[in-house]
Amino acid sequence: MVSFVTGAYILAALLFILALAGLSKHETARRGNAFGMAGMALAVVATLLLVLDYLTDDLIVDKTPIVVGLVIILVAGTVGAVIGIRLARGVEMTGMPELIAMMHSFVGLAAVLVGYNTFIEVASAHSNVGLESDAVHNAEVFIGVFIGAVTFTGSIVANLKLSARMRSAPIALPGRHLLNLGILVVSAVLLVWFMLTDGWVGMAPLAVMTVLALVLGFHLVAAIGGGDMPVVVSMLNSYSGWAAAAAGFMLGNDLLIITGALVGSSGAILSYIMCKAMNRSFVSVIAGGFGSDGAVSGEARDYGEHREIQADDVADLLAHASSVVITPGYGMAVAQAQYPVAEMTKKLRDKGVDVRFGIHPVAGRLPGHMNVLLAEARVPYDIVLEMDEVNDDFPDTDVVLVIGANDTVNPAALEEPGSPIAGMPVLEVWNAREVIVFKRSMATGYAGVQNPLFFKDNTQMLFGDAKDKVNEIVAALG
Ligand code: TAP
Repeated sequence: MVSFVTGAYILAALLFILALAGLSKHETARRGNAFGMAGMALAVVATLLLVLDYLTDDLIVDKTPIVVGLVIILVAGTVGAVIGIRLARGVEMTGMPELIAMMHSFVGLAAVLVGYNTFIEVASAHSNVGLESDAVHNAEVFIGVFIGAVTFTGSIVANLKLSARMRSAPIALPGRHLLNLGILVVSAVLLVWFMLTDGWVGMAPLAVMTVLALVLGFHLVAAIGGGDMPVVVSMLNSYSGWAAAAAGFMLGNDLLIITGALVGSSGAILSYIMCKAMNRSFVSVIAGGFGSDGAVSGEARDYGEHREIQADDVADLLAHASSVVITPGYGMAVAQAQYPVAEMTKKLRDKGVDVRFGIHPVAGRLPGHMNVLLAEARVPYDIVLEMDEVNDDFPDTDVVLVIGANDTVNPAALEEPGSPIAGMPVLEVWNAREVIVFKRSMATGYAGVQNPLFFKDNTQMLFGDAKDKVNEIVAALG
């Protein structure tokens, strides 16, 4: 049975690798998801079989702890599955980021609990039968609890910021980098103490470090401004993977180690890609010292007057254009405007207009958020381009439709060095002949920065819910 389980674990690990490979492209993403689900189902079944194997093992005399463990696994698994299915079915696409952040916090909490459980087991064995603890094992427990605790509070803050229950502006304490460094140094000293102790004495350094790590997780994420949250979400994704891998070391579970390492490293790669896209330094991200040191909000400048346009006039403009680029953002997700947008695209293409999409890497609230929505509405993949592929084409574009995007098309990122989004590459839509911005008001975007694009001479605002407005354009196009 054990060799069967080992085989199943290897197969599950391969399925997880195939899942990651599949998820890296639109065309194969569904298949990637299916591989991931199959791998997880196999891992769960193999683990249950392993427990059943212990039950039939004649060498184990007292089977009560195994039966109790099995009952706990089944009850907890069922309760978790019911809650998970309810949450996943009910969540809006726009609520996904905070749900994911909450799930990362569970992984962090699990690593902390596994760490304490392992410590208590070893400490009781020490006081009952005088078992010496092993320094390497102690280090595994300590590091696992540390990563878990940072992930736990960091993810809770990310959840609060993404769901707008905590202000998205950075909370920049004076000397915050010193505080972070201090916590790291003290934790390293506590690690050495913990490694050299035996039995219950280790509880002191472990507990002090846990409190410090919880503070560090909170502080690292609280200090990050709205515009940099995408990097935080992918970093926490990575941390949760390392926390799971650490739990795998503590439990001696190879599959958990492999899966955790896969999530940890793919999250780190995603963070690196995000950092490049946002023009932020990867090292400074890991250290929690993100770009906007002290830049809390944009300057309150007077940009002048904005101009408005109506849906019929936009339809007229589009019908006479030869090239159109659509740059969607979070507002398209809120309005669920992707279906009328797909319909409008089809109508325009049928009329011979060259329509393409320009996707900013952090548009929306999730990596690939816009791509998922457009794929759902069956917009052809070959007209959905990345920011770098489309940015040079704006001067030759007749009309740009900015549908619910704001920060990702904000020229302040390039023109205002003091801005919290300064340095972030953006879609340079203002270089097109005409720009139409679909939004409901003059409100700022996620980073809380006013957008000078709205006041440019070639920009016109189409106010209202994006879905309603695109529907009106579709009707006017006939
Ligand atoms: P945002 O800057 O968030 O702006 C979205 C705009 O959509 C708002 O200004 C809002 O204006 C408008 N809007 C909302 N509901 C609408 C509706 N029903 N109809 C029409 N318009 C609507 O969008 P963005 O350009 O996509 O930028 C994304 C931001 O989120 C960036 O700052 C990014 O760093 C951050 N972020 C991204 C991620 C990832 S991974 N993508 C994760 C976390 C944070 P009104 O209220 O006036 O309508």
